[in-house]
Formats: sequence, C-alpha cells, structure tokens
Amino acid sequence: MLNKQIYNLINSQINKELYSAYLYLEISNYFNENGLPGFASWYVKQSEEEVEHAMKFNAYVYQQGGKVVLEAIEKPVVEFKNAREALEAALEHEKKVTAWINDIYAEAVKQGDFRTQKFLDWFIAEQTEEEENADEMIAKYDLASKEGNLYLLNKELGKRD
Ligand code: FEO
Repeated sequence: MLNKQIYNLINSQINKELYSAYLYLEISNYFNENGLPGFASWYVKQSEEEVEHAMKFNAYVYQQGGKVVLEAIEKPVVEFKNAREALEAALEHEKKVTAWINDIYAEAVKQGDFRTQKFLDWFIAEQTEEEENADEMIAKYDLASKEGNLYLLNKELGKRD
C-alpha cells in the first residue's frame, strides 16, 4: 500500500500528465491553424505519449492496491504570437513536469519507499529526453527559420512515429 502523501502526489500526477496531453493537443491545433501540419502531427504524437505517461501512473496505483480518483482536467490557456512561443511553452511545461516528478521522488526517498523510487526511475530518464527534445525543437526551428527551410523541417516532423 502506498503512503498517503505519495499516493496523493501520484494521483495528482495522473491529472498533470493528462493536462500535458491537452496542452500538446492545443499546441498541435495551433500549428494546424497556422500552416505547419508537420509540427501539428509531431505534437499529436507528443500528446499521445502524455496519455501513456498518465496510464503508467494509473496502473501503478492499482498495482499497489490503491484506487485512483480522477480530477477535472484544466483548460490549457495558450495564446502564441508565433510558432517559437508555442515551442517555448512546451519546453517550459516539460521543466515543470520534471519538477513534479522530482517532488514525488523526493517524497519516496523521505518515506523510504524503494519500490516507488524504482518505478519513477523511468520517468526521471524520460524527463531528460523530454526536455532535450523540447530544447532541440527550438534550436531546429531557429535554424530552419534562419536558413529559410521551415518547409523541410515541417515535412521532417510530420514523419514522427
Ligand atoms: Fe509526461 Fe512530457 O512529460
């Protein structure tokens, strides 16, 4: 059985991951509305990945004999002046997710919950990748804008599996 505080943090993380899925869907919609369907497709994949993250947490609660209590998902508030702002919002969001995962990990360490630490190891590694990807998207966008080949980058991003 999970410690109450760890349970609360994980239950809340399910909501945060689903919010992340909403946010990325919103970002995807922004790109679709602004003539960059390859970027839109990339963020749909990102949104799907966030749902998978939520499912991992959801399954873990049940593996530990707990019961998930789903909460309302906040409406993402996104107003971007340009594509770069959308990419920056994604990076800022991933930094927040990293901090949330770290908070759960810190609580697991405090409570001597080795099982949860082991479970969270995947997310710790994943967040390194998530931040790296988000950072790289900005760098690629800047490069493509400067060199005038945003069209090609848009095409490349559309190929994400
Ligand atoms: Fe579930 Fe992008 O962190």
